[in-house]
Amino acid sequence: MAITKAKNRVILVACPLEGHMTPMIQLGSMLHSKGFSITVAHTEFNSPNPQNHPDFTFLKLPENLAAGTDTSFFNLLPILFAINNNCKDALHNYLDRMMKNQENEGTVACVIYDTLMYFADSVAFELKIPSLIFRNTNAAYLRSLRVNLQLYNEKTDLLPASRLLDPVPGLDPLRFRDLPNPLDVPVPEIVMQFQVNLIETRSSLAYIWNTSDELEDSDLTDLKQHYQQVKFFSIGPFHKMVPPKSTTLLEEDKTCIDWLNKQAENSVVYISLGSLAMMDGKDLIEMAWGLANSKQPFLWVIRPGSIKGSKWIENLPEDFEEKIENRGRIVKWAPQREVLSHKAVGAFWSHCGWNSTLEGICEGLPIICRPIFADQKVNARYLSHVWKMGILLENFSENRETIEKCIRKVMVDEEGKEMRKNALNLKGKLDACVSHGGTSSKSLNDLSDFIHSLTT
Ligand code: UDX
Repeated sequence: MAITKAKNRVILVACPLEGHMTPMIQLGSMLHSKGFSITVAHTEFNSPNPQNHPDFTFLKLPENLAAGTDTSFFNLLPILFAINNNCKDALHNYLDRMMKNQENEGTVACVIYDTLMYFADSVAFELKIPSLIFRNTNAAYLRSLRVNLQLYNEKTDLLPASRLLDPVPGLDPLRFRDLPNPLDVPVPEIVMQFQVNLIETRSSLAYIWNTSDELEDSDLTDLKQHYQQVKFFSIGPFHKMVPPKSTTLLEEDKTCIDWLNKQAENSVVYISLGSLAMMDGKDLIEMAWGLANSKQPFLWVIRPGSIKGSKWIENLPEDFEEKIENRGRIVKWAPQREVLSHKAVGAFWSHCGWNSTLEGICEGLPIICRPIFADQKVNARYLSHVWKMGILLENFSENRETIEKCIRKVMVDEEGKEMRKNALNLKGKLDACVSHGGTSSKSLNDLSDFIHSLTT
């Protein structure tokens, strides 16, 4: 009887946040298609549903959060610190067991960990397993974060507000206000302590990027100078490299697709601020009136709990529904990739998280950019000033007139047509890089060869 040799195994250490878990699962699918067995190590908090991914093995790492821990956005950093402290032993024990049972389980080729799950590097190092870093954000963000942290180290004075619109030397077209951390107000020490972990490669051998050479050639080239000790694999956009499949941790309201089916082509503004961002109640009101007054149909995702001080949309103006005359639909969570590819959708109002940014670009949609934190400000500036397919809503509290004008600019005016043309052009480039022989496809083959080479 022929004995089949167990496949090489890759251990993915996932971060329990929507914008991190989705691309990590997609990375797992890509590597599985290249012949690797996949283990996804994840926390108990926000864990993925194993039934949705029958090809993978799942490993729960207890993070031991105290009962009643606040798991909202405001407590994110303490939670991430806790995970990095508390999940080490469970991962160590699992990997140790796997190493002793490689004949049946497959050789553990490497650990690939999310940037935020840096504890995995020390575990892999102890066990002499090669490790690679998965970056769910882009090259421009890492460049800007490096400069941002350097500026903190060099300066003790706060930047005067009048200089926020000045360009950051060496980071054209970013301005000081586009940097991940503000320089005009003090940043809590815990933020800086955490972020230092995000620019280091420790003992890891490579960076895996959800971006493409076409999109970020010069930023990637610049970073390669700083990180000469690691290899770079740019294999994005991930969601275009794998068959379409829902990977979300939240429940999608698919009824919005029926609603979209009834709308005219390119007429709908789709609005979503991702899985973490929060808004003030007054912003909600301005957004609502801006949308209503624009007279454009809209599909708006409002996550329960994402409006400060409300459970969901109970604080919308009483006459809002009457004013929009069936032109709008609000849902708690949408099948976003399906929505963006729907022919009725004509523009995307986004917080510019990197997944949303890529998903919008890949559908050739102009983007109304309303960044809120971290990489979002960098992404928004690139959408508006590098790729020229976005319009920037700069201030968090834009008023209804500005919002109405902005929507009309994108949906009706010449400026919007130009943005759509640029977006479609970029979409074409990304389609090419994920197709057979394209740069991302080739880079995925290189990554697969590299991981196999680690076991020989
Ligand atoms: C986080 C950070 O906030 C972001 O800045 C970083 O770039 C990635 O990690 P998040 O805010 O959730 O992510 O934004 P984003 O990266 O855009 O990811 C959101 C994901 O949720 C996307 O894949 C999107 O398709 C999905 N989504 C969003 C849905 O499936 N349904 C929705 O209704 C909204």
